[in-house]
Parts: sequence; structure tokens; C-alpha cells
Amino acid sequence: MEYRHLGKAGIQVSELSFGSWVTFHTQADVKTAVELMSAAYDAGVNFFDNAESYAGGQSEAVMGAALKQLGWRRSSYLISTKFYWGIQKGVNEKNTLNRKRLIEGINGSLERLQLDYVDLIYCHRSDKSTPIEETVWAMHNIIEWGKAMYWGTSEWDAAEIITAIEIAERHHLHKPVTEQPVYNLFRRHRFSPEYSRVYKDYGYGATTWSPLASGLLSGKYSQGIPSGSRAALKGYDWLHDHVTDKEKLAKVQALESIAKGLDCTLSQLALAWCLKNPFVSTVITGASQVEQVHENMKASEVAPKLTPEILGRIDSIFQVKEEEED
Ligand SMILES: NC(=O)c1ccc[n+]([C@@H]2O[C@H](COP(=O)([O-])OP(=O)(O)OC[C@H]3O[C@@H](n4cnc5c(N)ncnc54)[C@H](OP(=O)(O)O)[C@@H]3O)[C@@H](O)[C@H]2O)c1
Repeated sequence: MEYRHLGKAGIQVSELSFGSWVTFHTQADVKTAVELMSAAYDAGVNFFDNAESYAGGQSEAVMGAALKQLGWRRSSYLISTKFYWGIQKGVNEKNTLNRKRLIEGINGSLERLQLDYVDLIYCHRSDKSTPIEETVWAMHNIIEWGKAMYWGTSEWDAAEIITAIEIAERHHLHKPVTEQPVYNLFRRHRFSPEYSRVYKDYGYGATTWSPLASGLLSGKYSQGIPSGSRAALKGYDWLHDHVTDKEKLAKVQALESIAKGLDCTLSQLALAWCLKNPFVSTVITGASQVEQVHENMKASEVAPKLTPEILGRIDSIFQVKEEEED
């Protein structure tokens, strides 16, 4: 496993990391979570991603119980959580980054995770109705109180990120250090030239999500929706159109000969492709089964095999128009 700096922050993250969205609580109980996290940690993963809204807080509770059982040295791993959607429906408690919510949010997360601090807190989305300055101050205070080490954004516009950095600089506050953007062969828009400036000029990190497009890039949906897969889960009907889209499936199929030539699986190829982007700090993987973790972690060995010629062949398969990339 290689480790990369989180942008220009001092902290280093494993280039492949592990997140709990969808899986923890819904597909994985504490026992399975222990197995999944162990497999990732043993492969060198040092960063585990979570959010208060995942499974209404239960994802954090499962991860907290798993960490307790695992008993790893606290300094040997990084944990993140995120705030925005909230877990209650009250007017000041959902879809917000107001100061009260963020401070109450971190306290709840720490309790569920059974930790004294998390390493990273993200603003899960931007909040158009709270001044960015209020959010920057709240994130700064949470860090000053020792409840988090760093903070970042997720799916923010480039202009909003720059505003947050500049407010923090103006007041000598802790600056956000990383974005958490979607990034996979189908969705590349968060690395458009507009964002390149954020990564290049401001040294912002990128902890990227859904590298397999919710499993589509593994090839598992080529014959329909297999039982036990994410798209077959209750409440995930919204994924059906995406994983059964004929054009997308044809692109996944076209990747097969490249994967075969590299002696790797489609999942490993798709993950390795993400790793080739020099602005990516870590690719956050997801898995519902231990075998998937073992398979995915080998993507690190595949990345060096992706020559410019192979990357060109991949690009020609994914000739997506700008508007399709979202
Ligand atoms: N910031 C945000 O807004 C945001 C949004 C989404 C995700 N995230 C983060 O990013 C992490 C990863 O996202 P993701 O779970 O969507 O990643 P993903 O890689 O796109 O999808 C992971 C899912 O694909 C399937 N899979 C994984 N490896 C496989 C393999 N080798 N063979 C076949 N199927 C495989 C599994 O689902 P099944 O086995 O159930 O089919 C697994 O749960 C999340 O856990 C979360 O931490 C952040």
C-alpha cells in the first residue's frame, strides 16, 4: 500500500481507503464490519470513512463497536465523519451547516463511534442558507476543542471551497484541507479545470467516493441485478436505471479485454484508474464482503501497469459528453 499526503496537509492517507456507506448496519453487522475493516487494515488501509447520516447514525454505531473489538492503536488509523443531512427532522437539524447543528453533530458522532476525537470532519454538502463564515468558524472551533484534527468539504463548488479557504486565512482559522468528490470512470466532473485550480493552487486534497459507481464497474450487473447486490437492496430502487443502463453496461463490457490483458478484474482496473489521477489523495472503496476487500486492495498493484497507451484506450471507451459526466 502506498500512502499519499492529504493535499498539502501533513497527514498521509493510504491510497485505498474504506467507507461504510450502505453497507454498515444495512448489510454488515458488527461481526462483519470487524472482518471487513480487518481485511482493509491488514492490507495497509489507515483511513475509514463514515457519516452521521449513514443508516441514520447506525453506521457510526457499528463502526464504533467494531473499533472497540479490534482494539487497534488509535494513532494507527484515521476516522472521518460528515455533517449536513442530519438524523433528525427538526428545522435546524436537517440539510444545514449551522453552528449549533455542527457542534451538536460532532458530539453525537463521537458518542456513537465511542471515540474521543475523529481525524476528519466533512461538510457533506454545501449549505446555501448558512453563511460560509459561520460554518468555517464552527469547524475551526471543533478542531480547537480537540474533537477533530482536520476538516474538509464534500461536493462543494470550487468557488465555495475557495471562499472557505480565504475566510479561514483572513481570520487565521483552521482551513479546510480536502474535498470528498465522486470520481469514477463515468463521473469525472469534479476534476474539471475549475477544480484543478483548487487542487493545484490551494494544495487541496481529494478523498474520492464511489469508485465502482456503486458496483456497476465490477461487471456484476451485466446479466441483470443479482440478489444480494446493492441495487437489489430494499430502498435502493433509484439505482436500477443506473445499473441497467445499456450504454453504461456496454462500456463496462468493453473494459473486459483490457482487464484480461492486465490479468486483473474489472473492479481492480476501475480502482487502479482512479489511483492514476495525481490529485487523488485516497480512493474510498466500499465492500459488503471480505472477498471484495481482498480483491479491491490488489488495485494498488494494477495501477503501475496502466501505461499512457492503456489509459488512452480506456478514455476512448468512455467518450462521455460533459453533461453526461454528472
Ligand atoms: N461524500 C459523499 O457524498 C459520499 C457518497 C457516497 C459514498 N461515499 C463514501 O465512499 C465510500 C465508497 O462508496 P461506494 O460504496 O459507493 O463505492 P463503490 O466502489 O462505488 O461501490 C461499493 C459497492 O460495490 C460492490 N463491490 C465492491 N467491490 C466489489 C467487487 N470487487 N466485486 C463486486 N462488487 C463489488 C459492493 O456492493 P454489493 O456487494 O452490495 O453489490 C460495494 O458495497 C462510501 O462507503 C462512503 O464512505 C461518500
